[in-house]
Amino acid sequence: MKSNIILLPGDGIGVEVVSEAVRVLQVLAKKYNHEFSFSEYLMGGCAIDQYGVALTDETLKACKASDSVLLGAVGGPKWDDPNAKVRPEQGLLALRKGLGVFANLRPVKTHPALLDASPVKADRIKDVDILVVRELTGGLYFGQPKMREQVNGHTRAVDTMEYHDYEIRRVVDLAFRLALRRKKKVTSVDKANVLETSRLWRLIANGVAAEHSDVILDHMLVDTASMRLITAPTSFDVIVTENTFGDILTDEASVLAGSMGMLPSASLADSGPGLYEPIHGSAPDIAGKGIANPLGTILSCAMMLRYSLHLDEEAHAIESAVDAAITEGARTADLGGTLSTTKMADEVIRRI
Ligand code: IPM
Ligand code: MG
Repeated sequence: MKSNIILLPGDGIGVEVVSEAVRVLQVLAKKYNHEFSFSEYLMGGCAIDQYGVALTDETLKACKASDSVLLGAVGGPKWDDPNAKVRPEQGLLALRKGLGVFANLRPVKTHPALLDASPVKADRIKDVDILVVRELTGGLYFGQPKMREQVNGHTRAVDTMEYHDYEIRRVVDLAFRLALRRKKKVTSVDKANVLETSRLWRLIANGVAAEHSDVILDHMLVDTASMRLITAPTSFDVIVTENTFGDILTDEASVLAGSMGMLPSASLADSGPGLYEPIHGSAPDIAGKGIANPLGTILSCAMMLRYSLHLDEEAHAIESAVDAAITEGARTADLGGTLSTTKMADEVIRRI
């Protein structure tokens, strides 16, 4: 099979982890007789430096025309001025919106060999297997108006939490379909005791649930959910929630897995290419040192193989190789080990 993959390494450790993930894909292509062609573009802070914007029209066009997009991370202190007109994160948001990837799948699974790497007690996180489905193209991130203005000598800022029924329906429906292949339980997380958008979210979620009698739905307020993720993480199967809540809860959930460096994500549209990226950021403090954990990006490639390229066996080959490498003690610094980014990827490659 021939596939055209766009690489957007971005900033900081994004560059290091994407190049290792590409090596893994190349080995896999050889083994399974596929042809993956890679084209690399600048996105994020590096694109601001080069073109003055975080995402150019040309880059977005190339992404739209591809089979899938692999992203590293964007951002860094160099572009962090709160008064700046252009920010690296704008590139990421424009890319998500441009590709229409409304559902962000963030699986959090604990590995038996990493239970002690989490600050949460080992007996509590054993067998955690959660899939967070985060709405990705709506809510506070995109709602209008969004602005800062001067009013009577004071500065006023506004963000708008906005959702349409169809935006809620499509992401909740996907969560239900994904739950069918799992433990058949969906927890819809909202703040319906306060927010109008959450009350609409609940209504729509109930409607979707009525069409899926084989899946159980429960509703949970986001503050309760943030607590239950630590006190009873094994009680969750699929969590579906709006954009901002999902952003916050997935960083929290990543603590269960021992390191953010382990966690992949897939962002999916109704049709067209998916966007695949580790959930960690650009980690400026360790950028350029060659010590970042590449597994989140490598596992994102497995998700790409599964969801965009429909290569299930190949996806599984990556996941088993990562699993075995961890079981047999391969560790980067974030997991208390000494392997470099490249050496960790080597550990995966030799098990494929
Ligand atoms: C994430 C990140 C992004 C987000 C930032 C970089 C804009 O935190 O992917 O979770 O908030 O969505
Ligand atoms: Mg985040």
